[in-house]
Amino acid sequence: MDRYAVLVFRDQKLDESAQMAFTRTLGSIDMGLLKVLQTKSRFKEAGMIDISNVDLESQIRDRDDPKLVAMLANQLWHSDSSFKQPAAKYSLLMAQVVTEHGGETEFADMRAAYDALSQDTVAEIEDLIAEHSAFHSRLQIDDAQYTEEDLALFPPVQWPMVRVHPGSKRKSLYIGVHAEHIIGRPIAEGRLLLAELLEHATQREFVYRHKWRSGDMVIWDNRAVLHRGRRYDLSERRELRRSMVE
Ligand code: OGA
Ligand code: MN
Repeated sequence: MDRYAVLVFRDQKLDESAQMAFTRTLGSIDMGLLKVLQTKSRFKEAGMIDISNVDLESQIRDRDDPKLVAMLANQLWHSDSSFKQPAAKYSLLMAQVVTEHGGETEFADMRAAYDALSQDTVAEIEDLIAEHSAFHSRLQIDDAQYTEEDLALFPPVQWPMVRVHPGSKRKSLYIGVHAEHIIGRPIAEGRLLLAELLEHATQREFVYRHKWRSGDMVIWDNRAVLHRGRRYDLSERRELRRSMVE
């Protein structure tokens, strides 16, 4: 994981409990936004996150179903749980039902992206801190279904934009859609810098695109890569399940 940051395991036979048991061997479970998003779940494991377009009865959701709309924020570049403290270390995503077209997941290497920055940019961002917010991505796609209580559960957190990975000792960019603005900069200026860095960091040369097969388990290090889902036909069934460690 320290070297590659994304690992792909084909033909896995893990059921829900086995996935959760394996995840627990890697650390304590990160519950992500479960407190807000999945009050009811198809899963019996409390920390298992339903990355699918189906409802509790396994029927494909309508395209304007709020739970489905919330899921679409996964299609923006992000690092899981960067909006909370602690954020997610590893995410484990297991594919059960996949679509024939679209629906890939992409991973962008924030270490390689950092290494390719200009000297000027390296100097400029060295000590910058970004504020990350849980609902920023959702507001961007017009998903505004959250109450004041929801918002209060996830107050914004601050993270350095450049961090040294404890395992590989490599520097990497810690950005993505949850990064809402930069501390000490006017909002507009900070957002434009974040957008520029994201554009740089997600060039094709830094990106691995995973074409899912049923039975794939992909594990990634959220401290080293950003990821996003790609669009797919929402009327086609797509079912994955995700677990994370803090
Ligand atoms: C995730 C995620 C993207 C996808 O599960 O954390 O962002 O392709 N998924 O479903
Ligand atoms: Mn994600």
